[in-house]
Amino acid sequence: MVLLRGLCTIALIFLSSGLTVASPGFNFNWFNGGDENGESEEQLGLIPEFYQYSCPQVNDIVMSVLEQAIAKDPRMAASLLRLHFHDCFVQGCDASILLDDSETIISEKQSIPNKNSIRGFEVIDEIKAKLEEACPGVVSCADILALAARGSTVLSGGPYWVLPLGRRDSKTASLSGSNINIPPPNSTLQNLISFFNHQGLDEIDLVALSGSHTIGVARCLSFKQRLYNQNGSNQPDETLERNYYNGLTSVCPKSGGDNNISPLDFASPAMFDNSYFKLIMGGKGLLNSDEVLLSENNWNTVQLVKSYAEDEGIFFNQFAYSMVKMGNIGPLTGYNGEVRMNCRRVN
Ligand SMILES: *[C@@H]1O[C@H](CO)[C@@H](O)[C@H](O)[C@H]1NC(C)=O
Ligand SMILES: *[C@@H]1O[C@H](CO)[C@@H](O)[C@H](O)[C@H]1NC(C)=O
Repeated sequence: MVLLRGLCTIALIFLSSGLTVASPGFNFNWFNGGDENGESEEQLGLIPEFYQYSCPQVNDIVMSVLEQAIAKDPRMAASLLRLHFHDCFVQGCDASILLDDSETIISEKQSIPNKNSIRGFEVIDEIKAKLEEACPGVVSCADILALAARGSTVLSGGPYWVLPLGRRDSKTASLSGSNINIPPPNSTLQNLISFFNHQGLDEIDLVALSGSHTIGVARCLSFKQRLYNQNGSNQPDETLERNYYNGLTSVCPKSGGDNNISPLDFASPAMFDNSYFKLIMGGKGLLNSDEVLLSENNWNTVQLVKSYAEDEGIFFNQFAYSMVKMGNIGPLTGYNGEVRMNCRRVN
């Protein structure tokens, strides 16, 4: 019985991976009309060929800036992936996260999940400036974020995916949305599942997208609770492997050191691979939100962690598929929103 269910899960993964090629959102209904089924309407605006004639060099420009930025600062790849994620979870993938404070905008940059940790804005600015030279007023900041997330994944050794484009930029931001919708690092599994469900993402997306923690770092503040007071009982999280725990306590003392950093995947911190899942299997996931994918004994997430730890190809296929799905959250299309001239302010 267990074996049978295991096989079904694997089959399910293959099935959904297969859809990557079919690229959701491939149709020509970009002007946001015509679709009577409101639920899928938003996704139908995006197509991979959106800039084929208006800015054919868009991806080359994005990649050339990324190559330099990541060579200079390998951590930047993870920062740009996170920027896209924190954008999409707040009023959709509309570049709201890039807006600075102004008369009409209260920036999301100061929200609890973003403050002192969100980064990469200068790289987005540089891409935008080059694109404004090459194809003025054409490429949205929201699409730049999606392209930068894919490019960062590829340059780190991860999968490529066909990326639907045509998002437009918001004229608003939501500080409260940023505080409410982005899952905190000490989330329980049930919290994580609810946060993702709220965005139309399921448990498979949750586990696969958590795999982005194969690169990047987290601040001591984000895992301190696990080291010293996991349950309100002044005890460490008992799921932490002992040696790993000891090492973390030297980076992250009980008091102070909040901005000290530790790699999310210490086995290969700058390489996009499946070692994140292998570490979780050994009690060496850095954040509570990483380890609970295994430790809370949810049958689905446990099987997914195991299958990604065993087979990098299965992880890569699902990651690509789930990134497309996340990138399709609530985009502005057609005449909604605008293409910002400067990603930091509305036109
Ligand atoms: C997570 O941390 C916040 C802030 O410290 C705290 O209020 C909340 O209770 C914690 N959640 C869990 C599940 O421990
Ligand atoms: C938290 O405490 C409960 C008992 O109060 C225990 O069953 C559980 O394993 C603890 N969780 C962790 C992660 O230490």
